[in-house]
Amino acid sequence: MKSKLIRYNDINNFQLKRHMDYLKAQSVDSLSGTINISGAKNASLPLIAMTILAKNDVNIRNLPHVADIRTLLKLLTNLGADVSFLDEKVVVDTKPLYETKATYDIVKTMRASILVLGPLLSRFGHCEVSLPGGCAIGQRPIDLHLKALEQMGAQIEIKSGYIEARAPEGLQGCSIIFDKITVTGTANIVMAAALANGKTTITNAALEPEVVQLCEVLNDSGVKIEGIGTAVLTIHGTAGKLIDIIDFSIIPDRIEAGTYLCAGAITKSQITLTSVEPKHLGAVLAKLEEMGSSFTLTDDTITIHPAQNIKAVKIITQEYPAFPTDMQAQFMALATQADGVSIIEERLFENRFMHVSELQRMGADISLNGHTATVKGKTTLSGTDVMATDLRASSALVLAALVANGETNVHRIYHLDRGYDALEKKLEGVGADIKRLKE
Ligand code: EPZ
Repeated sequence: MKSKLIRYNDINNFQLKRHMDYLKAQSVDSLSGTINISGAKNASLPLIAMTILAKNDVNIRNLPHVADIRTLLKLLTNLGADVSFLDEKVVVDTKPLYETKATYDIVKTMRASILVLGPLLSRFGHCEVSLPGGCAIGQRPIDLHLKALEQMGAQIEIKSGYIEARAPEGLQGCSIIFDKITVTGTANIVMAAALANGKTTITNAALEPEVVQLCEVLNDSGVKIEGIGTAVLTIHGTAGKLIDIIDFSIIPDRIEAGTYLCAGAITKSQITLTSVEPKHLGAVLAKLEEMGSSFTLTDDTITIHPAQNIKAVKIITQEYPAFPTDMQAQFMALATQADGVSIIEERLFENRFMHVSELQRMGADISLNGHTATVKGKTTLSGTDVMATDLRASSALVLAALVANGETNVHRIYHLDRGYDALEKKLEGVGADIKRLKE
């Protein structure tokens, strides 16, 4: 018996309420203890969209309790799906889906809603999805998603801010080569191809672990996919037949884990992360080692032995398995405490330095030249009022607050709540003095 349905207004009030919160943090001598890592937001989003392809109730474990997941679940309920909690899992039933229009009011709050485009189109042969619009870190186009769907036979029109997509005969498998590596673009086309007629090959596919899990779950549910984990994926479509999707548990969030490793590094504290996947953090661990930390690893834990003198570093953000752009802001905060000059080059997004001005207000010595930031350390940071501008920038400001003299108030933390599950509670649990308060 399903225990509780998610209702539109429950989620809406929840998100509205948290709009007015801020975090008050004091500097801390050191942290100690363990932090349990939640499921990955960026694995959860495509896997929730994938439930549109299911003929059964889909059981999902280890979904993180973050706003973006609630937003996408709300979108599915708006389209007619049933979402309920049952013990530790979320059960998504999309059999009652009757609506195929993803409206602006939801899509504007989370651009990853674009992930319903491929599944809706391949299941129903038509759908309307609001254009996501840009976001703080960049224009975030979706031209590669649309071009690939057109190659699969879809008619795509942009009308009054909506993508109107039609494929009345179903999508046709074909060979697609992405001009650029796109994470959600790869996920969208994998899901579209899953119900297509014939075989689809995607060349220059994203290698992120979140894309790998989507492919593994589909493959284990009977959609034959070759090349999983490589840049060339071959998906054998079911020709419109819905899929009996297996139960699955979301992989650990490698960016959340990386953020807490930076908390250990910046406060020079030994902490242990549990329920984490070390092999997803290769580039992040390597850069922290270059900065002087060392690690003890098991299959699902990481203990950081932090550097007492943090070394300066050179970072270039690139697609997985290289250094992730989603860790750039956190490493910039850490670099302010390194001895010497660090260079951080952001290669994926055109405006992902919004945290710089806030860190400068705390006393950081950072200069920008195009997509490259030069961070001079070690600088003494001072607590003050700062404003979060995007998800990862907010976590960078919290990291800085842990070592800044005095008190820091981080405002607009609804950005933080989009992708971090109870961040202040997890930090409090290892000794940080950090509280969530109302404006
Ligand atoms: C995913 O965004 C992640 N979001 C982002 O995480 C992450 O920063 C990004 O991948 C890169 O790793 C989710 O998975 C939900 P892209 P996505 O398509 O898929 C250009 C976070 O903090 N591009 O891989 O939107 C694009 O402008 C978020 O959790 C096109 O030009 O990123 C960018 O320069 C932030 N045309 C580059 O490709 C397209 O059609 C990579 O974008 C699509 C993308």
